[in-house]
Amino acid sequence: MAAATCLPLFVLVSVLMAASTSPSSAAETPQELLLDFKASLQDPSGALSAWSSSTPYCNWPHVACAISAAANATVSVSISLQGLGLSGDLAASSLCRVRGLIALSLASNGFNQTIPLELSRCASLASLNLSAGAFWGPLPEQLAMLTSLVSLDLSRNSFEGQVPAGLAALGGLQVLDLGENLLSGVLHPALFGNLTSLHLLDLSRNQFLDSELPRELGRMSSLRWLFLQGSGFSGVIPESFLGLEQLEALDLSMNNLAGVVPPGFGLRLQKLMTLDLSQNGLSGQLPEEIASCSMLRRFEVHDNAFSGELPAGLWSLPDLRVIRAQNNRFTGRLREFPGGQSRLEQVQIDNNSFSGGIPQSIGLVRTMYRFSASLNELNGSLPDNLCDSPAMSIINISRNALSGTIPAFKNCRRLVSLYLAGNGFTGPIPASLGDLQVLTYIDLSSNALTGGIPTELQNLKLALLNVSYNQLSGRVPPSLITELPAVFLQGNPGLCGPGLPKDCDADAPSRRRQGLAVAATVASFLTGVALLAVGAFAVCKRLRGSESSSSSSPWKLVLFHPVRITGEELLAGFHDKNIIGRGAFGRVYLIELQDGQKVAVKRLVNSSGKLTFRVAKNEMEALAKIRHKNIAKVLGFFYSGSDGEVSIIYDHSQSQVGSLQDLICAPKLTICWKDRVRIALGVAQGLAHLHHDHAPQVLHRDLKSSNVLLLGDELEPRVTGFGIDRVVGEMAYQSCMSSDLNYKCYVAPEQSCTKKPTHLMDVYSFGVILLELVTAAQRPASDGESVDVVKWVRRRANVTDGVSQILDPSIASAATQKGMQATLELALRCTSVVPDRRPAMDEVARSLQAISFASVHPQTPMLTKSPGTLEP
Ligand SMILES: *[C@@H]1O[C@H](CO)[C@@H](O)[C@H](O)[C@H]1NC(C)=O
Ligand SMILES: *[C@@H]1O[C@H](CO)[C@@H](O)[C@H](O)[C@H]1NC(C)=O
Ligand SMILES: *[C@@H]1O[C@H](CO)[C@@H](O)[C@H](O)[C@H]1NC(C)=O
Ligand SMILES: *[C@@H]1O[C@H](CO)[C@@H](O)[C@H](O)[C@H]1NC(C)=O
Ligand SMILES: *[C@@H]1O[C@H](CO)[C@@H](O)[C@H](O)[C@H]1NC(C)=O
Ligand SMILES: *[C@@H]1O[C@H](CO)[C@@H](O)[C@H](O)[C@H]1NC(C)=O
Ligand SMILES: *[C@@H]1O[C@H](CO)[C@@H](O)[C@H](O)[C@H]1NC(C)=O
Ligand SMILES: *[C@@H]1O[C@H](CO)[C@@H](O)[C@H](O)[C@H]1NC(C)=O
Ligand SMILES: *[C@@H]1O[C@H](CO)[C@@H](O)[C@H](O)[C@H]1NC(C)=O
Ligand SMILES: *[C@@H]1O[C@H](CO)[C@@H](O)[C@H](O)[C@H]1NC(C)=O
Repeated sequence: MAAATCLPLFVLVSVLMAASTSPSSAAETPQELLLDFKASLQDPSGALSAWSSSTPYCNWPHVACAISAAANATVSVSISLQGLGLSGDLAASSLCRVRGLIALSLASNGFNQTIPLELSRCASLASLNLSAGAFWGPLPEQLAMLTSLVSLDLSRNSFEGQVPAGLAALGGLQVLDLGENLLSGVLHPALFGNLTSLHLLDLSRNQFLDSELPRELGRMSSLRWLFLQGSGFSGVIPESFLGLEQLEALDLSMNNLAGVVPPGFGLRLQKLMTLDLSQNGLSGQLPEEIASCSMLRRFEVHDNAFSGELPAGLWSLPDLRVIRAQNNRFTGRLREFPGGQSRLEQVQIDNNSFSGGIPQSIGLVRTMYRFSASLNELNGSLPDNLCDSPAMSIINISRNALSGTIPAFKNCRRLVSLYLAGNGFTGPIPASLGDLQVLTYIDLSSNALTGGIPTELQNLKLALLNVSYNQLSGRVPPSLITELPAVFLQGNPGLCGPGLPKDCDADAPSRRRQGLAVAATVASFLTGVALLAVGAFAVCKRLRGSESSSSSSPWKLVLFHPVRITGEELLAGFHDKNIIGRGAFGRVYLIELQDGQKVAVKRLVNSSGKLTFRVAKNEMEALAKIRHKNIAKVLGFFYSGSDGEVSIIYDHSQSQVGSLQDLICAPKLTICWKDRVRIALGVAQGLAHLHHDHAPQVLHRDLKSSNVLLLGDELEPRVTGFGIDRVVGEMAYQSCMSSDLNYKCYVAPEQSCTKKPTHLMDVYSFGVILLELVTAAQRPASDGESVDVVKWVRRRANVTDGVSQILDPSIASAATQKGMQATLELALRCTSVVPDRRPAMDEVARSLQAISFASVHPQTPMLTKSPGTLEP
């Protein structure tokens, strides 16, 4: 107390002293106060470098000002510094002296400190966001002084200790988010009684809280979102919750709640959309009134000890998407409901004691994606329409008492998992399962199925087929034995085949030998592929070669990899609707195979009659042998006997997101710098492999950004379209290249005047791609003209301050500057007019590696001394 009385005097003295030593009255302008605040921050990426005394603070980045007419034209200031990598010892006292500071966000930074007590002097703050700021320590009582607060977000830090009861003073609070901290102890009942304006209260994921649910929560009549999951709450759900009439989401999951849900629960919760009571110890019957929550979308009560029936009206709720009630003790029948009007997507009611039949209504729900009711006492036969929903992906009705035959599931083209194990199903396995292209997991074990395993199942790319413990008989389709990692056949004494106790000797000895031979070939073939042995090509070709020649067709299909495709399929696939690209050498078709795999086929227009089949095969074989993660795989080719036209079949990855050109020409090039370097590096490594790891050297000769495909979220690059000249011949190659004006800028200038193509021409093309990545030249010009990026850059490179005009401003920052400049220099060397000045591809790759390393580890100095990197 003595200290408190001294304080004013002390302040006065220190102000006087400050005034006498430095002109500190100036430090009271918002500008100076904010600079003071900035000086206390560590800002490694220079995000606040534009905060300077030479510009008005209202124009600084991350600062917003508003003039309030109501409050006598006072300025209100909002500061949002989220996600800037800031740390340091916050000078909150300066900050809080900025008049009219109404909003402050320091979210998503790395402050690694306690909340500065001075922050409580920011009396005008209406919004304070410290979420994920790496703050720790106790929540100071002084927060209660921020009486203007409307929104307080302290979530996702490491705050510990009790929630201060004084926060009750913040009567105007609408948002209070304390989720994901280490808060502990008992919640003070007085805390919430006064916070009647709250819309959102989040106390979730504070695993050390040890509290009952305060009855007072029920008084927060404006509450719309209440998140209390995973915070160790015990006791019962208070009856006062019945009156939270504005509630839209209630999450009480993952606590230790017990007892029953209070009777009448739901009657007044007319706005409730999400109800999650899962993973508690709740018991008894659910009140029927829950079904009066007419806006309910998610209903989750799984992993409790509920008993009795599910509220009958639940199934008819018009907006309900999710029912998760598994692992309880629910009983009773599943009733019919108006399935045609339902929007249910997921029903999980496994591990209960539901009985009776599966309702027809389930099959009528057009949106149903998952129906999972294993481990119950359901009986009767499966409704024929069970799989009629076009969205159906997962059916799990294992371990019930179902009987009858398995219907011919025809309509669920998206079915992935079918689990029917542990029932009393009889009759055959429907062959129609083989038509469900994405079906991957089939468990039919422990039933009473009879007949053979349909050969059609070989069409599927199965990860699991469990048919054990049935009464199946006959030959197991050979590829099911050899190709699959997980096939379970035991407990079917009637099955025969290689590796089974019974071989198929008895019925057809000659067929058996054939079967074994096929199995052996397939097996050795697979081994070959696995080892990437050149020998595999031979085996493979012999296999396929005999196939196509025996059919004496006018065309020949040669595959170097296991692909399920026929020449007829290919021919049928050459359809305009399948065209995904047109280049100088022809069209590219995307063809979907029967097993769902896709291949890209490049049909070379100008190849006709250029090569005999034998020569074409040799050339293609050489290209198919190339294995590199950044080089597209050549799966095979198609040779039209009548006119000698060649089509190359490439692997098409499902995860392909488009070509680099697509991204570069998008209205806004949104790839960040790190990703651009990674793409460039991948392309460089792929090309280096072509140039340096093959003898004779493989040249690409048509490198451009549209020939760089990007895969997956990582945007892994894959180079395609290489070596076409070897198939179409030099003449046609030259004529095609010169006819294609769009891609002229990728072509090295010496192309037209040298006889022999060289690897340095590829380096030139690569340099052009590099320029595209580092500049903004490819921003679509207003006239729609495509830009020759090399000219564009050269025109600017010599101007004063030219470099800053060249580098793409959307990603140029202090952090990327060095790397971008190094890349620009490298690109300029690659695009040198004099071929001999261009670096070889392996050297380019090494330089990019250094740049890439530096872009990921900004702390380390640029490796300007890496072998032969940036010296002219
Ligand atoms: C606005 O300014 C006038 C005169 O300067 C003063 O009388 C009034 O109280 C002020 N209002 C507010 C809200 O500050
Ligand atoms: C936080 O600071 C302490 C020292 O004050 C240090 O030991 C710790 O490593 C820091 N944590 C992080 C994540 O930077
Ligand atoms: C706080 O900031 C984080 C990160 O920007 C944001 O996700 C969150 O919505 C903010 N909280 C509030 C209450 O606005
Ligand atoms: C309750 O909130 C009001 C403001 O809405 C405040 O004036 C009052 O002091 C608060 N009560 C308690 C007990 O904190
Ligand atoms: C079934 O649910 C009970 C709780 O009702 C649980 O203890 C048990 O582990 C669950 N069984 C399975 C297989 O999940
Ligand atoms: C299907 O249900 C069984 C029994 O509850 C379970 O073991 C299996 O994992 C479930 N399969 C899927 C795909 O959910
Ligand atoms: C299903 O089981 C119930 C008893 O739970 C029985 O009354 C009914 O007849 C059974 N239905 C069929 C088709 O087996
Ligand atoms: C296959 O089914 C049998 C019988 O249901 C079971 O014992 C075995 O674990 C299953 N195997 C797999 C991999 O699911
Ligand atoms: C095909 O090549 C010839 C020269 O061999 C050329 O005249 C013709 O224009 C080319 N066709 C196409 C479509 O490029
Ligand atoms: C641009 O600068 C290079 C050296 O950096 C020089 O060789 C060239 O002549 C200059 N070109 C123009 C047009 O100034």
